[in-house]
Amino acid sequence: MGKNLKRVGILTGGGDCPGLNAVIRAVTKAAMGGGIEVVGIEDGYLGLIQNRMRVLNNEDVSNILTTGGTILGACNKSNPAAYSVPEGEGWVVRDVRDKVVEHYESAGLDAFVVIGGDGTMSSAVKLIERGLNIVGVPKTIDNDLWGTDITFGHDTAVQTAAEALDKVHTTASSHHRVMVVELMGRYAGWLALNAGLASGADVILIPEIAFDIERICSKCVERSKHGKRFTIIVAGEGAKPAGGELFVERVDDTSPDPIRLGGIAHYVAREVETRTGLESRSIVLGHIQRGGIPTPRDRLLATQFGFHAFELLQQRRFGRVVVEREGKIGSTPIADVADKIRTVPLDHVLIRSARAVGTYFGD
Ligand code: F6P
Repeated sequence: MGKNLKRVGILTGGGDCPGLNAVIRAVTKAAMGGGIEVVGIEDGYLGLIQNRMRVLNNEDVSNILTTGGTILGACNKSNPAAYSVPEGEGWVVRDVRDKVVEHYESAGLDAFVVIGGDGTMSSAVKLIERGLNIVGVPKTIDNDLWGTDITFGHDTAVQTAAEALDKVHTTASSHHRVMVVELMGRYAGWLALNAGLASGADVILIPEIAFDIERICSKCVERSKHGKRFTIIVAGEGAKPAGGELFVERVDDTSPDPIRLGGIAHYVAREVETRTGLESRSIVLGHIQRGGIPTPRDRLLATQFGFHAFELLQQRRFGRVVVEREGKIGSTPIADVADKIRTVPLDHVLIRSARAVGTYFGD
């Protein structure tokens, strides 16, 4: 029990998401109960690069179960193996893992927990190569981490998006408009599919199914001919037209994952209005999807994930990430999930159910 483990670190990498604090709380309380000190590493891997850490006590992790964001701060630009530093007019990429190893050792860490998505896990693999003891916990509103059926944060984002779609319904039906709502999710359609299906969207565009804008227009016209004088279109940010390109909003060269998606809703609304004459509007829900109070389901998942991360630490089963598969919490090697994305299988029951109730995917 806790053999030789005296001090462990914890960090939140990548973008923030509801439920991070619930994991920090679970790991810290469980570890403190087992006589292990927990050190909070600030701003993801940046805290390890810049040696910014602080011991967490009971007060730090009290009353944070229901709060969004992360008490530790997050950063999605600090992969120690490929860290961008300013040089001259631009940026150069450096491997700063030596600094991380130095700060890990000087802080007296026996191991640390990384809570994050695929980018965080890929960075973890590069540190495991340097001998650091790491346990991973999967988070992301996108639900796209390979190896686990679910990530915490997704349920809250689905709820937020579905509530927004329900509200958009009001104006769509009152003004007889086509309303196109852009949701996050990167290269996987889980968020758009779950939120769209939950709120009865008429058209759902996801990265896994290339769309045809002309057919979407026909669908809107056909609906208005049948007395449905409005159409709600949910557009996952990573969806693209057949034979076309992704909608890229910006390229951030200082980030390990430089592409920031965006623009699909504006494109679809403009095309529908121009081609059909139906009045259309676009709405981008953006980071609202990452904020707010985690749902009870996310709090429960995050607490169980945090507890299992503590068990892995105790058992010295390093290099593993907590996962949930078929309702059971377990773990898998971090190296197996890094650099992969879990997309929606085309024969998934969610897609089949959506088609069965008349949802159109633009194909
Ligand atoms: O991975 C979470 C996520 O919110 C994606 O859905 C989105 O594409 C991306 O992060 C946005 O990143 P940023 O916060 O850097 O704009």
